[in-house]
Formats: sequence, structure tokens, C-alpha cells
Amino acid sequence: MFEAATYRQRRASLAQALPDALILIPGNAGMPMDFAVNHHPFVQDGCFRYFFGIDEPDLVGLVDGASGEAWLFGEDGGIDAAVWTGVTPSVAERAAQVGAGAGGDLAACAAHLARAQGQGRTVAYTPPYTAEILLLIAGLVGITPEAVRAGASPALVRAIVTLREIKSAGEIAEMEAALAVTARMHHAAMAATRPGVREHHVVGCMAGIARGADLNFAYAPILSGRGEVLHNLRYDRTLATGELVVNDTGVKSAGGYASDITRTFPVSGRFDPLQRRLYDTVLRAQQAAIAACVPGVRYLDLHWLAARIMVEDLHDLGLFRGAIEDVLASGAYALAFPCGLGHQIGLDVHDMEALGEDLVGYDGDVRRSDLFGLRSLRLGKALRAGMTVTIEPGLYFIPPLIDRWRGEGRHSSLIDYDAFDRLRGFGGIRIEDDVHVGENGARILGDPIGRTADEVEAVMAAA
Ligand code: GLY
Ligand code: MN
Ligand code: MN
Repeated sequence: MFEAATYRQRRASLAQALPDALILIPGNAGMPMDFAVNHHPFVQDGCFRYFFGIDEPDLVGLVDGASGEAWLFGEDGGIDAAVWTGVTPSVAERAAQVGAGAGGDLAACAAHLARAQGQGRTVAYTPPYTAEILLLIAGLVGITPEAVRAGASPALVRAIVTLREIKSAGEIAEMEAALAVTARMHHAAMAATRPGVREHHVVGCMAGIARGADLNFAYAPILSGRGEVLHNLRYDRTLATGELVVNDTGVKSAGGYASDITRTFPVSGRFDPLQRRLYDTVLRAQQAAIAACVPGVRYLDLHWLAARIMVEDLHDLGLFRGAIEDVLASGAYALAFPCGLGHQIGLDVHDMEALGEDLVGYDGDVRRSDLFGLRSLRLGKALRAGMTVTIEPGLYFIPPLIDRWRGEGRHSSLIDYDAFDRLRGFGGIRIEDDVHVGENGARILGDPIGRTADEVEAVMAAA
């Protein structure tokens, strides 16, 4: 947690942006696994954590846009909580930690909102992403559950995005703390990988390091020898010579900030010539995009820059034909790069996307495309100094997609399907780093993690 002054200042900025509203910011609820008090690891809502700091379930924050006052609401643990899970600070004590007033219990919150609504004031809230919070909002605001989503405030979302997308030095330090552990996890994964090892064993090595640092994964790790499946969440294969492993794994820092790192490495410890060539191509695309990552540049254009570099090499290899320009503009390139270049990162691994991807990643100047591949680009708008983004180009050879497109004859003048067919079984390559957009250019955050093909082989050889 930061100093109380940090949260006070953030809430003051928010109040200034919505001076007429009462701004309701619910924290997340505890999430039972299979019976009421057997919980999943708790993950706080990013907005609540940003404005109220506290990493505990079942709290609600309220900011009065007119006065700038803020309160925390929730129920104090009774004697049963003390007996079973231990004494915790009261809601009033927690409120004091983050410079807010003690508002009382949730009934008091509902009464406060009802009074304000009676005076003609509006209650602003962001769209909920869990049923629990949707029902909580309905109850507190006095509307039906069906009306909750439509009643969410786009003005509030825009105000929050404007604030949260610029990271302070303290936030960067949190992300780098997450990345220090992440670096150890990725190097351990490379060291643990060899032919005959099961994917879940490698995941387990990383989990041990994360839990040993009292951290949790920021998302379910993607660790697979079938790395062409973009978010492959199965770990049940035995890794074999000749395969590439895609390892996309990050953690949340103690303060709740995410890392999101991908490395790709050969099971045997040595890239074969084609693997090395395509790896170097993805790396060049990543390096070029990072070098171009400066304020004012549209992230959409970084996507195109990376895609062009990769298409040029695939064209040289005979996978694409015709004019490079046509391969890009038609969307044919997406057969090998069917996703976006990256996204913002912060308290959430896909930072703020729960607020609405288009409101976070696009604006009046850059609209989301509906072209296959490009429509998965979550961030298109111009970069601002202080943002943190991932840069994660990749090449993927996805047999069902190749078959589907070939069957449709899609872009057949631009794609050599026989050449793609020869790469069935190649898998995928993704290289992902987390980058801070500074006034004068980008900086890759965190401790170095073996990134060139030589560095990756050296880490594996040292094991
Ligand atoms: N780890 C998910 C992603 O890279 O977006
Ligand atoms: Mn990512
Ligand atoms: Mn990732």
C-alpha cells in the first residue's frame, strides 16, 4: 500500500473530473471455491485498489465529486472471524490507513446514496464484471439487477482511464518488484525444461518461486509445447525434442501490480535453423516496436510496424506472396499473427480492460477494426508519456486456422497454403516484455530475462 496521501490525491483528481456525481467504487467480494468459506486466492478490483488501496474483500468506497470527501464502508469481523481467521483491523481503522472517512456498514452506504439521490444527485459506477458486484450495486443504488450494466457511467470510466493509465514512480517500482520474481521464474522454467519433462512440472517450478516470494500468478500461466494456441492453459503434455515452449507467465507484486512476460525456448536447449530464424524475426519485430514506442505514436502503428517486419521474412520464406502491402492491408498476415501486439499493464494484467476494452484502448481518433486478427488488438490509441504497455509480437502456425482459410480459399493469391502446411507442428513463438513509455523513449521494465536466441540457449546450457 502507498501512503494515505497518494490515495487522497487520486480521489481528489477523480472528484474534479466528476463534480456532480457520487462515485461508488466497490471492492471485490471473496470468491468461494466449493463451499462458503473455502475461498479462491483473493484478487482485489483494480479501481478499488487504485483509489482505496486496501487488499481485503467486501469493502465499498464512495467519493463525493462535489466535496471531494471519501468514505469506506463494510462490516467489521465479529467474534467468529476472530476465532477462525484472526483479528483484522476494523473498517474505520482501514479507512484511516488510506485517508478516508469511516462510513459504517453497507446499510449506511445505501442510506447515504438514497439521501443523495433524493436531492437529485446521480450515482456513478463502472460496469461490474462479477455477478456479486452487479447485485451489490443494484442493492446499494436501488435499481434492478437488469438495469445495472446500462446504468454504468462512461464519463467515470474515461476519468479513471485518464488517471490510471499514467503510472507513478511508485507504481513502476511495484511492477519491477513483480518482474524481479518473474525473471527468476522464467529462468527456472528454461532450466527445468528438457525432453521428457512434463509441462506441469515446469509450471510447478515457477509456482514454487512465486509462492516462495508470497506472490501469486497474475493470470493462469501459459506454458506449452503447443504454443500456437495463444492462451493454451493445458499442462498435460510431455515436452519433446524439436518442440518450442511458449512460456507466458507473470505475477502480481505485493502491492497488486502485474507482470506479463513471454519467452520461447527449444525443449532440446538449441534452436534449429528455422526456429532460430523465425525467433530472430519475432525479436526484431519486438525491438523495432519498442524503439518506436514514444508519446504520440499510435499503438496501432506499432502493431503494423511489427507485423510488417514479420511478414517480410515470411514472404522471403515463401509463405506469403504478392505485395507486402496487400498481405498487410487485406488481413492475410493474420494467418500467422492472429492477435494484437499488446495492451496496457498495471494493477490488472490487461489493465482496466474490465472497464470496457474500447474505452481503454481506443478513442475518437483511432477506432477498432473488425478485420480478423486486428480486431483482437486491445490498444490502438496514441501513447501518452507514463503509460506502461506490453510489446508481444508472435508467429503462430495454427493447423485448424490454416485448414479453415485454405478451405475458404481466403486470400489465396497472397498465401502459399502448401508452405504453411509444411509448418504444421512448428508451434508458436511469442516474445513479450513490459515497457514504460517515457518522454524520450521506452524502457523495458525489470531485471533482464534471457531474450536473444543466444541468451536463451546460454541459460538452458548453464542448467
Ligand atoms: N498473458 C496474456 C497476454 O499476454 O496478454
Ligand atoms: Mn500480454
Ligand atoms: Mn502474456
